[in-house]
Amino acid sequence: MNLSPIANHTKDSSTENPAPTPLSGKASYRIDKLLAASCCGSRKDIKKLCRDGRVRLGNQTISNAATKVSAEEVRELLLDGQPLEIQLTLLIMMNKRPSVLTARVDRREATAADDLPEELLERGLVPVGRLDKDTSGLLLWTNDGVLNHRLCSPRHLISKVYRLSYSGLPLGKEEVQKYAAGLALDDGPALPAALLLPLSAEEKLDRDKPGCYFEEFIGSSIAPGSLKDAESEKLRTVLLESCRQVAAERRSLAEDEALLVICEGRFHQVKRMLAALGREVTSLKRIREGSLSLDPRLDSGEWRALDEKEKASLYPVSYTHLRAHETLRY
Ligand code: URA
Repeated sequence: MNLSPIANHTKDSSTENPAPTPLSGKASYRIDKLLAASCCGSRKDIKKLCRDGRVRLGNQTISNAATKVSAEEVRELLLDGQPLEIQLTLLIMMNKRPSVLTARVDRREATAADDLPEELLERGLVPVGRLDKDTSGLLLWTNDGVLNHRLCSPRHLISKVYRLSYSGLPLGKEEVQKYAAGLALDDGPALPAALLLPLSAEEKLDRDKPGCYFEEFIGSSIAPGSLKDAESEKLRTVLLESCRQVAAERRSLAEDEALLVICEGRFHQVKRMLAALGREVTSLKRIREGSLSLDPRLDSGEWRALDEKEKASLYPVSYTHLRAHETLRY
């Protein structure tokens, strides 16, 4: 069975239309890569281990290191008769329901983990960062702690795009500029952020320049001195790229809505950024994180595994040790 990247997975739908079990699958893994990822030596060493008859799959000796095994069979791999601890990395995108906590378990309240199968949770899936109980949208889950840390740490400038509605006076160019310069919050200045407002009548007419409005500010107003030059340049690039990626979403904004792109994940950050300028967030949804957009086919509470391209996009090319694990992901 295949863990389809598009299949909808909800506990409730499982009776009518059983969710494919992610632990089995067409996905198969080369033995030399699996052994290399679990530190059994280089690919050359592993070839020799196989030739010497030291690698077994259950009772069967594996003499060819290029042999492929399924995710289920991985657990039966033995080296010198001893089981190998091979952790296949999982990466899942969920459309978090509003009204559930971002947690694996809670004694009193429903959690986003209630929408995931127990067998995946048992394999160490944890949420990447946190969305408030009343926030919906893109929530990633992984058992890769290094990746989790990287996606959450502000040092790595991974953008998060939120679609929000708000109450209070309409946001305008002045607010765009304040966010772009880095807003003072009670726990220290926020990194510069991009606020995207509904298209003005003028912009709606000019289809050749989607989003030129924010570029004007982001391009000029990242506060000098707030970041080292290189970081500031990287932040500007990340914000602009995210803004371009959500240009279509911007076109669909209602008058009391906006998009906010931030590269941090502080407690209640978006709500506090709006409150700092006298507005109140009335609904909040994360629609993008780093290179990933929330799949519009996922209804509230549904999830799917990331496809190969999406997984690869989360790992920087320079992370050679992680890239060695990449082929193990599904
Ligand atoms: N900012 C918030 O205020 N809440 C969230 O859930 C995410 C970002």
